Amino acid sequence: MRLNIQNVSKRYNKEKYGLKDYSLTIENGILGLLGSNGAGKSTLMKIIATISQPTDGTIELDGHNILQDPNYIRKMLGYLPQDFGVYANLNAFEFLEYIAAMKGVGGAGLRNRIDALLEGVNLIESAKLPIGTYSGGMKQRIGIAQALLNDPKVLIFDEPTVGLDPEERMRFRNLISDLAESSIIILSSHIVSDIETIADEVAIMKSGTLITKGTQAEVISKVDGKVFETLLENNSLPDFKTKNLVVNTNRQKNKVWVRYISNNPVNGSEAAAASLEDAYLYLTSNNN
Ligand SMILES: Nc1ncnc2c1ncn2[C@@H]1O[C@H](COP(=O)(O)OP(=O)(O)O)[C@@H](O)[C@H]1O
Ligand SMILES: [Mg+2]
Repeated sequence: MRLNIQNVSKRYNKEKYGLKDYSLTIENGILGLLGSNGAGKSTLMKIIATISQPTDGTIELDGHNILQDPNYIRKMLGYLPQDFGVYANLNAFEFLEYIAAMKGVGGAGLRNRIDALLEGVNLIESAKLPIGTYSGGMKQRIGIAQALLNDPKVLIFDEPTVGLDPEERMRFRNLISDLAESSIIILSSHIVSDIETIADEVAIMKSGTLITKGTQAEVISKVDGKVFETLLENNSLPDFKTKNLVVNTNRQKNKVWVRYISNNPVNGSEAAAASLEDAYLYLTSNNN
């Protein structure tokens, strides 16, 4: 499958753009949209899910214009909105039956499908309790289950790992990684480590624009040879920060350990292996 987003803009009002001339091609696999709050991730996802219309541009799924024919993608879409509201009085079974009815999923296999999904998101034991009694992470997991209900070929998860603990994240990853071969999976986060463990490819966004897209290795390679660590005197840190992009610090007795990105490392620095977080901070910083 191939989703082709071309020159898409979303203008909310006179001076406010959610997306600006945004182009991206997405193929099967897991793509992580990474960007700080306000970068435009939710705007892009809503437009792909045909919940929101762009002001400009085209989007094609396997050559079909989905802005003109939104039903083409809706039939094969699973979507977890960022502000996923649930029906507090329904239990997990009832809620998934309700969503199934809305999506036109039915038949003899439905009960088994619901059981398997509840198993997959580790909610089977709480499935008879009203969703209103669930924790934030449990609500998020029922949201993930509903997105998967209709065997979707295009899956959009807006900040799916919010509220999930490490074990639940691993479950989520396992749940979607089998689907990635035959479907397009897009997930967003503002936390690098969430994307790092799950996504095959990463698209870094800032202010409604695409900064870069590639495999994790390709994105990381953009800071190869630029990441350094050194020990500084405590009082020299403020000045150092004005001249270098500091990505991490760790105070020791009288000194401070600093990880930074630079083309001209200071004397006494040691080169460090670049990480996705380094690349993200470097590529979204203003002085790169
Ligand atoms: N309905 C709206 N009306 C006006 N501005 C909006 C609306 N939705 C989002 N925005 C603005 O568009 C930009 C992108 O927002 P959003 O897509 O929610 O970013 P993200 O999901 O990456 O945090 C932000 O500056 C946000 O304030
Ligand atoms: Mg968002």
